[in-house]
Amino acid sequence: MSATGGHATGGSHETGIVEISTGAHARLHDDIERILVPSSAIAARVAALAQTIGEDYAHADGRLTVVPVMTGSLLFAADLVRALPQRRLRIQLTTVSSYGGKATASRGSAIVGSLPKHLEGHHVLIVDDILDSGGTLRLLRSAFEERGAASVRACVLLRKKIDSAMSTPCEYVGFDIGDEFVVGYGLDYDDLYRNLPYVGTLRKEAR
Ligand code: IMP
Ligand code: MG
Repeated sequence: MSATGGHATGGSHETGIVEISTGAHARLHDDIERILVPSSAIAARVAALAQTIGEDYAHADGRLTVVPVMTGSLLFAADLVRALPQRRLRIQLTTVSSYGGKATASRGSAIVGSLPKHLEGHHVLIVDDILDSGGTLRLLRSAFEERGAASVRACVLLRKKIDSAMSTPCEYVGFDIGDEFVVGYGLDYDDLYRNLPYVGTLRKEAR
């Protein structure tokens, strides 16, 4: 039962959407035009990525630093690190701004605040939501290499099938998607829709 009086009718296996007959949840899903990556597919891919990454960093226990890029990778990174087998890994957040507010095209990447510290000799794994212009990954990769990281790799949930993204080095990719603006599972439009459990496109009326 929701506080607004609507009631859950059970989650759909494919989308992970809990259908609620009335109330705030119904409105959140109503803004979505099309589900691109359902939550079941995300969960399966995150598990597979974690298995590969866990094996690739088997030698790095105690020297692995995962750097989630805020805020878009919040959900992805939380799920990914919980599936990694490393006994001792560090998590250090960094914030990069590329879109402002309602913009849907990158205006160039800039690091907000200070960068993670004490990276000398550490294997750094950058975790981001989506690879688009490539500005974010290029900026962070060179910053961490300059700070003496033993290695720098990147993992993104999504990569757009456009030249700028496909030509940017990225070791781990969840899904390749078309060149469209997506929200959900951490990705936002004007800081909204991050809490959707799947990745989808927004209806025109919501933008
Ligand atoms: P890049 O630096 O251009 O590769 O863009 C990376 C950042 O832009 C991502 O971390 C997102 O925050 C944002 N971004 C790019 N494409 C999308 C999108 O389709 N939806 C929401 N955010 C996006
Ligand atoms: Mg981002």
